[in-house]
Amino acid sequence: MGEPVKHDVRIFATGEEVSRAAALSLIDRIKQSLGKKNSFSLVLSGGQTPKRVYEILAAEFHKAVPWSRVSFYMGDERFVPPDDPRSNFKMIKESLLNYLPISQKNVYPMPTSPCTPEEAATSYEKLLRSHFEYPLPNFDLALLGMGADGHTASLFPNSAALDDSGKWVTVGQAPVEPRTRLTLTLAAINNSEWIFFLVTGKEKARALKFAFGDINPDFPASMVRPGSEKLIWWVDESASSLLGK
Ligand code: 6PG
Repeated sequence: MGEPVKHDVRIFATGEEVSRAAALSLIDRIKQSLGKKNSFSLVLSGGQTPKRVYEILAAEFHKAVPWSRVSFYMGDERFVPPDDPRSNFKMIKESLLNYLPISQKNVYPMPTSPCTPEEAATSYEKLLRSHFEYPLPNFDLALLGMGADGHTASLFPNSAALDDSGKWVTVGQAPVEPRTRLTLTLAAINNSEWIFFLVTGKEKARALKFAFGDINPDFPASMVRPGSEKLIWWVDESASSLLGK
């Protein structure tokens, strides 16, 4: 067994403080990165916790960075029509992208029609492979949420998607509707320069404790290991209540 992983976990009293701190840190990383290179690749996830960060970015930071130099990718998507209220991209457009001075050419939603889930995954992977060098995409930052079952993106406990290491994008199966999902694979996520995990609420405390433990397919968030100093956990006190116990 290797050395226990040292987690960079930033704990705040409330979910609102978590969201604000994560938004500020994201802005800081975008600024730093764009001071050295032309573009910044950002992976966005669905979920209520990431959504609050998007709303803060839209309301307070829509002029803070040259957003036109940011490329927006999806970490996962529900396989529903783009106007379906359960669509992650619909939420991300409505909470963030519609408020940023960007052009659609830098926005890359995962396709959900008219194609099969497998065709969609293949097509998105083909797009990513045209943007990034082999063998893996190296996103500048991936922003992830975590479910109370320890899933992240649409990588659910003990699902086949966890083993699709040869792929960058795959079809995920969720235990809840909408069951069919598209998701980046662990290999694609783990090669990111930075990963931000946003976890709030006491219902996440047990999964977070396991996520900090050994790699465990029962808790896919435990399998997000981009290498030290590249992963920051943005957590509120409720979600962190079982850490170290
Ligand atoms: C999705 C998300 C998913 C989400 C977590 C956390 O498609 O729902 O990509 O991975 O980020 O379930 O969601 P909450 O923040 O709403 O708990």
